[in-house]
Amino acid sequence: MQRLIRSILLIAALAVSGSVWAQATPAGQADEVAPAGGATAPPLPKPDETNAQRSKSQPGNNAPFWRGVRNSGNQAGVVSLPGAENGVLIQQFVQYPGSRVSTAGEAWRQVRNELILPYGGALMLIAALGLALLYWGKGPLGGHETETGRKIERFTAFERAAHWANATAFVILAVSGIVMAFGKYFLLPVIGSTLFGWLTYALKNAHNFAGPVFAVSLIVVFLTFIRDNFPRSGDLAWLVGGAGVFGKEVPSHRFNAGEKVVFWGGVFLLGGLAVGSGLFLDKLIPGMEYLRGSMQVAHMIHSVAGVLMMAMFSLHIYLGTIGVKGAYQGMRTGYVDEAWGKENHRLWYDDIKAGKIPAQRSAAPRSAPAAAAPAK
Ligand code: HEM
Repeated sequence: MQRLIRSILLIAALAVSGSVWAQATPAGQADEVAPAGGATAPPLPKPDETNAQRSKSQPGNNAPFWRGVRNSGNQAGVVSLPGAENGVLIQQFVQYPGSRVSTAGEAWRQVRNELILPYGGALMLIAALGLALLYWGKGPLGGHETETGRKIERFTAFERAAHWANATAFVILAVSGIVMAFGKYFLLPVIGSTLFGWLTYALKNAHNFAGPVFAVSLIVVFLTFIRDNFPRSGDLAWLVGGAGVFGKEVPSHRFNAGEKVVFWGGVFLLGGLAVGSGLFLDKLIPGMEYLRGSMQVAHMIHSVAGVLMMAMFSLHIYLGTIGVKGAYQGMRTGYVDEAWGKENHRLWYDDIKAGKIPAQRSAAPRSAPAAAAPAK
């Protein structure tokens, strides 16, 4: 609990420092950070001797120099390289009372290692355990209706291409992200530092390339599926009815309320946060100033959104593969049997049978299965 409180205070201090620093430091001319909200940083010990004096008594020891750097706050030194913050050797931050760390880099490191990674890792393990228990307890859902042989087009080729491009990029991002964040705990001891170094380096590059693919395909997926993800009558009943896990599937339109929660929470909100902060970390947003403080804040948003997305999408992937009979087939081939529609999305199926929605939306390719005819 103490660790959690300390980490939260560190995040607050980092966020304050990040914004103060971003405002107080125009590119190339760093300034001293003004204490925010009246909070004063505890004074650091004054150097009692110069570097020259110390190097006489202890040759090679340049501690006074580094003490001087620390005492200078974020006052920039003189450098010939252009660019923001290049003259600042150690980034200070607004400390909270009782803080054990005096540099923003160390504070960020502690938030990452003591808050985001342990709690994020635990959340993902809990999600995996929950899915294993669901599979063990319930097995795959559905499959109670007898197949008719009549097919309904569930996803057009365009929808499937957008979805699979996005899903492939997501899997690359998830695997590389997990290795970069948690690999040192479970891979490094097994494969050794040489191989782990190469692997992490390769995966970091894969992550940076898959990121923009994910960003673009996420926008396409969002625009493609938004129409059928707006809340509709029957969504509340679906949620109250326990999502069909504890009994018969509650009738839903093309997408049920659970899918809509994943769409708005996972694709729109978390996807937007992860993509925005990721593009910022990759320095791909034009006109932005990439300062240490704002990079640290972007990293925290990115990793938290990433971990939450992985936990959420592991449920989506489970239901889209082994969790619901016939769902994967729909996204792979584009077609589902009428019986699947009737069992899993009854209101959508009824609209198709009533002729309100065409059973075949795209121009049918020659190999397309016979689509269901509207009821006479
Ligand atoms: C390997 C990973 C994935 C698999 C196996 C998978 C599988 C599926 C399946 C089978 C469906 C059809 C469900 C239905 O018929 O109702 C579906 C729908 C969908 N998937 Fe995935 N998916 C994966 C990853 C992703 C990712 C990473 C995203 C977005 C970040 C995503 C977004 C969607 C959306 C938006 C839909 C349409 C349903 C809706 O809008 O609520 N999927 N997926």
